[in-house]
Amino acid sequence: MAGFDTLKALPPDALLGLMAAFQADPRPEKIDLGVGVYRDETGNTPIMTAVTKAEELLLSRETTKVYEGPRGNANFCAHIESTVFGSGNASLLERVTSLTTPGGCGALYLAAVFAKRISGNPSVWISAPSWPNHTAITRQAGLDVKDYPYAAPGRTQIDFDAMVAAFQTAKPGDLIILQGPCHNPTGIDLTLSQWRTLAALIERKGLIALIDIAYHGLGDGLEEDLKGVRAALATLPSALVSYSCSKNFGLYRERTGCLIALCETAKSAQIATTHLADIARASYSMPPAHGAAIVNTILSDTGLKKDWETELSDMRARIKHLRRAFANQLLQASDIDELVAIAGQKGMFSMLPLPSHAAADLAAKDGIYLPTSGRINLAGLGMHQIEFAATKLGLALQY
Ligand code: LMR
Repeated sequence: MAGFDTLKALPPDALLGLMAAFQADPRPEKIDLGVGVYRDETGNTPIMTAVTKAEELLLSRETTKVYEGPRGNANFCAHIESTVFGSGNASLLERVTSLTTPGGCGALYLAAVFAKRISGNPSVWISAPSWPNHTAITRQAGLDVKDYPYAAPGRTQIDFDAMVAAFQTAKPGDLIILQGPCHNPTGIDLTLSQWRTLAALIERKGLIALIDIAYHGLGDGLEEDLKGVRAALATLPSALVSYSCSKNFGLYRERTGCLIALCETAKSAQIATTHLADIARASYSMPPAHGAAIVNTILSDTGLKKDWETELSDMRARIKHLRRAFANQLLQASDIDELVAIAGQKGMFSMLPLPSHAAADLAAKDGIYLPTSGRINLAGLGMHQIEFAATKLGLALQY
């Protein structure tokens, strides 16, 4: 019999390992460009004011902690559905079902298992590069992972022809993960016309789109950010959407997410509901309640919703400001003209074409932490750190 002692230790997850290494570094001037969390000028990841107020309300109103069931908080789900589809696509909601999930990761996992139930043995197609956990989660769910070209580090545009060519080779029933706003890790988003082209291709080839929305509101605005996603959802007969409230509500550790399934008919949505609830029940039984209750409280209250939107818009403005300042400094430090594109990229991340040894060197010598992929989290920087970080990264780009 194989004993537990036959296991070999694994290296830590790249981003979580970086978090631990950063925390252990005693240098006060250290800079964390690693894990994707928003920070304010003081380096703190704040609790949003609307969240604190919602928690106070919840505490005063709560009467029970009894189970909610595998679909979680139905009111939260309804809010996320309307947020994603918007008023222009409201009629589609008849064909929609959704459930609360433990973060966006829980939604991605359910989506992968659901795709297996539908397609038998699908492959999942993930952008190269992508967030490493897309691969880890879908592989854990038993899917065979393939990648499609997206945008190489240092490139300013998506290699769209190559992306389409890869999808042409996918087989019916394969799952295609497309990221909504603020592509992780490149910061380069699909244009509206590219979303339309891909939706038509996905429909024609009988593929399953899984649209992952983890940074809604951190690109150009709550409405603007979803234009492409909504155009795709308006034409696709069916699709899956995973939605995370970690970043835009700052609810990271509360694990607050939603999986939405757009189905061909209202009847098929009812049937899909039973399968998704069944997969949730067998995976973790029921999702955590607190984060979803917070989001529901905020989105149900005009005043709190306004507070949230204002604070989110301030966060977005700060990220844009940091991007412009960083891109200017980096240009001076590196002489690589294309890097000016960082100023206009979306959300927290951009990718630098750094040599593979650069991340370890930067951490050891300068206390600057980033993954070996060259992804940087601009939302982790303070204005006072920009000159130093850009100078060191600019130098590292030359070797
Ligand atoms: C990231 O990409 O850094 C974030 O989404 C955090 C995580 O879970 O990896």
